[in-house]
Amino acid sequence: MIATITLNPSLDRTITVHGLKLDETNRWRMMHLYAGGKGIDVSRAIYEMGDETVAYGFVGGAAGRTIEILLDEEGVPFSFTPIEQETRTNFIITDTKTYRQTRIDAPGPHISERQLARFRRKMRQLSPKPDLVVAGGSLPPGIPINVYCEIVSEAKSFGIRTLLDSEGRWLEEGIKAKPYLIKPNVHEAEELLKVELPTEEAIIKAALKIIEMGIKVAVISRGKDGLIAATKQEVVKAVPPAVRVRSAVGAGDCTMAGLALKLVDNKPLREACQLAVAMGTAAVLTPGTELCHRKDVEDILPQVKVWETRKSKLAKTFSFASDE
Ligand SMILES: Nc1ncnc2c1ncn2[C@@H]1O[C@H](COP(=O)(O)OP(=O)(O)OP(=O)(O)O)[C@@H](O)[C@H]1O
Ligand SMILES: [Mg+2]
Repeated sequence: MIATITLNPSLDRTITVHGLKLDETNRWRMMHLYAGGKGIDVSRAIYEMGDETVAYGFVGGAAGRTIEILLDEEGVPFSFTPIEQETRTNFIITDTKTYRQTRIDAPGPHISERQLARFRRKMRQLSPKPDLVVAGGSLPPGIPINVYCEIVSEAKSFGIRTLLDSEGRWLEEGIKAKPYLIKPNVHEAEELLKVELPTEEAIIKAALKIIEMGIKVAVISRGKDGLIAATKQEVVKAVPPAVRVRSAVGAGDCTMAGLALKLVDNKPLREACQLAVAMGTAAVLTPGTELCHRKDVEDILPQVKVWETRKSKLAKTFSFASDE
């Protein structure tokens, strides 16, 4: 079973307007509610693909209850730690006239030490233990900045691998515990390594640099160009077919779900990357925060091109010149 952790879930309200006017009254054409947050998205995508998962994290207030109801309606299992404060609500405004998307994100409720201790106890006492943990997203106020480091270490002490998807300081602190896998996008990888990554060669080098930091699998996602992944032994490049983009929100989370689904069963990295790209790309076909649909993933999967370079060849070249 794949457990996901979302410390700062959100009730996502996606609002569609036709021509957003500032300083004026706008009327929405559509409004949808989604249970959001990185780990929750990963659980929803895993469930969509027919696999087992449970979403953990904090929820509180009416927004938190709505998240539980939405997950329940979808059939996605969860076991949240209740808090008194209200879970945050994020707004995603899509303008169908300009196809621009504006997000307004809230910081999230303050989590007390007592609440965090309850969550930790719960995770420690899980039985049976999950086979893999996917943790991700921002941290709500009150949570120590090194919490991902602790989560990764704790999981490791039970022999459980963690996939971590966060950014900035949260990611920097988290990787100190050497998670099994991280998946920054190009921008997040640039921030993490404090370098610019303008070329494929630079991205491959960056992935190898992350491996040198003690992380077993480094995946750098690159939007329409798919992703580059590296381990000590190999480098994989996976590229999706060109598709019509409706909304890229949640694409990275579906990518994480694809990686988790294959790596939990110790499948080869190239297989994991192919599914990850198919799921990420299937997510951009759906509007708003809607995630990938299984049917789209199955259609896209055979169209994802995958190249693999083994270590012996890496010494000579960092490029994928030919199909292997
Ligand atoms: N324009 C696009 N066309 C096709 N596929 C895309 C596009 N954008 C994203 N994807 C798919 O989604 C995956 C993840 O995208 P990206 O690198 O943008 O992740 P991200 O920045 O982490 O996303 P998120 O904002 O959801 O966190 C890509 O590897 C690719 O498979
Ligand atoms: Mg992302």
